[in-house]
Amino acid sequence: MHNDIQEVLISEEEIQAKIRELGSKLSAEYEGRNPLVICVLKGAFIFMADLVKTITVPLELDFMAVSSYGASTKSSGVVKIIKDLDVSVEGRDVLIVEDIIDSGLTLSHLIEMLQNRKAKSVAVCTLFDKPARRTVDLQADYTGFVLPDAFVVGYGLDYAEHYRNLPYIGILKPEIYSK
Ligand code: PRP
Ligand code: MN
Ligand code: MG
Repeated sequence: MHNDIQEVLISEEEIQAKIRELGSKLSAEYEGRNPLVICVLKGAFIFMADLVKTITVPLELDFMAVSSYGASTKSSGVVKIIKDLDVSVEGRDVLIVEDIIDSGLTLSHLIEMLQNRKAKSVAVCTLFDKPARRTVDLQADYTGFVLPDAFVVGYGLDYAEHYRNLPYIGILKPEIYSK
């Protein structure tokens, strides 16, 4: 285990098993619909890569980079688009892939934007959810794990850009973010 991690909350094996479950649900749902699967960078990059390998129907991918946290542990409430999509979503069945929903601000902003661009449908698949932290009314269509309100990192989730490469979800030692 990484030295800055206090406790492993969800192991690599548990994560991969859950992703296979999500993949088979999504494969059934999107049969014949050629969805546009959108990865919300940076956090969702590992989940996206693992998830699409478990989806067995034809699909297209695109990437968007947004940021609301920066190096802070709290959302600033301002969602910045750092990289927009390359393709049009008009008339497409869009599936947004996120690593985590916290306040819900990032996703509510993205969903509204994709609806304004006339997507045919917009659904959300998130690996992790922290419902206790929600400030806007938002629920994912597909959720992997519900997390307690602890500062977690790993499997794409960062603190000040670190720990994204951990293959599991761990609780960060408080002395790391309070110093
Ligand atoms: C994190 C996370 C989600 C978002 C969730 O991204 O990856 O995208 O915050 O928080 P919210 O529900 O309160 O909006 P972040 O802005 O830290 O950027 P990153 O993905 O590049 O780490
Ligand atoms: Mn993110
Ligand atoms: Mg972040």
